[in-house]
Amino acid sequence: MGNGRVKVGIIGSQFQADIQAASFQIMPHDAEVVAVASPTPGNAAELAKKFGIPRVYTDYREMLKERDIEMVTIAAPNSLHAQMTKDIAAAGKHIVCEKPLAMTIAEGEEMIAVAKRHGVLLMYGEELFFTPKYLKAKEMADAGAFGKIHLVKQSEKHFGPHSPWFWDVNRSGGGALMDLGCHGIAFCYWFLGRSPIKTVYCQMGTYVHGDKTKAEDESLCILEFANGAVGLIENSWARRGGMDDRIEVFGEAGVTYANLHMGNALQTFSENGYGYAVEKAPTTKGWTYPVFEELWNYGTPQELTHFARCVRGKETPQSTGEDGLVVMQALYAGYASAGEGRKISLPYQPPLGVKKPIDLWLNGPTRTQVAQR
Ligand SMILES: NC(=O)c1ccc[n+]([C@@H]2O[C@H](COP(=O)([O-])OP(=O)(O)OC[C@H]3O[C@@H](n4cnc5c(N)ncnc54)[C@H](O)[C@@H]3O)[C@@H](O)[C@H]2O)c1
Repeated sequence: MGNGRVKVGIIGSQFQADIQAASFQIMPHDAEVVAVASPTPGNAAELAKKFGIPRVYTDYREMLKERDIEMVTIAAPNSLHAQMTKDIAAAGKHIVCEKPLAMTIAEGEEMIAVAKRHGVLLMYGEELFFTPKYLKAKEMADAGAFGKIHLVKQSEKHFGPHSPWFWDVNRSGGGALMDLGCHGIAFCYWFLGRSPIKTVYCQMGTYVHGDKTKAEDESLCILEFANGAVGLIENSWARRGGMDDRIEVFGEAGVTYANLHMGNALQTFSENGYGYAVEKAPTTKGWTYPVFEELWNYGTPQELTHFARCVRGKETPQSTGEDGLVVMQALYAGYASAGEGRKISLPYQPPLGVKKPIDLWLNGPTRTQVAQR
């Protein structure tokens, strides 16, 4: 095990790669980004310039040959996570894989197995486990503030992703549930002490973005947990006004509500507009809710620092490939539920040949086509 700051390579150079690079700069004590790789000429170089990253690659496999790199983060489309994980593990480096873990349950299982075989950590990029406001809610819950908890809600909504591959179900695997619901499933599972998920019921539709995707842009999902509690997850790619992320927790002895962005924001009116309000906000004119310390409030710097400390053996991973796999299983059950119009029990085994979760909805027997507006 090495000493000093963990040397990190980032795969990808756009949205989440930028957040990762910025996060490592916010908390520079335990890790430093020494390389970035992404295929479009110039893009990785641009990220490198912005954050002072010394080495740039267009082929991530070349980056993996660098002996001093110890941890590699995957900030690339979902369909590439499994192959990248296998390549990183084979190069003997620890892995941080962004959500969702993979496209299929089988891929997720293989990723976990390959990391074990090569003796490297597979850490799962679920920042909601590190979000300060949500951590406070969990701390209170664990201290008994709400008594026995029977309902946990999490919702994440915006007007749709920033990058074309998300809309292509062959590269993303699904729409709002896959992209955003993976956070909600992970959140409820974690909040409830990783009580196993027993059933999933899901309703979804494409209401606004049918012109550009086959994926669902609205999804409602109910999870039943072995401890008797229920999780309710609402996700949308059809909600205007920028990113909206909230939780509600209900127990016999109390409740807590947390609105991650607007709850922390400055209530602002501006005729002229200004630089930046919040992720995916369409405007900064009129009434807006600019957030401050956005990445810190999300928990990404804390998450990535924790992962670097795990590489040094100073901490034990709080978000793992196994967590990502539980989420994958629930996602599959969710799409199957929406496709079949019934509650699905876990463990759920998708029929052979299903290549991505959304196929279970798109090809499901009871799917009703919602009229496009
Ligand atoms: N934790 C979060 O809240 C969060 C937020 C956004 C995205 N994500 C996840 O991060 C991942 C990336 O999403 P994004 O928003 O950054 O997408 P993006 O489109 O902004 O960036 C994708 C990057 O992947 C690179 N890429 C594509 N093919 C590649 C290849 N063969 N080799 C190396 N790089 C390749 C692209 O060049 C680009 O730099 C996705 O899995 C997404 O779900 C997580």
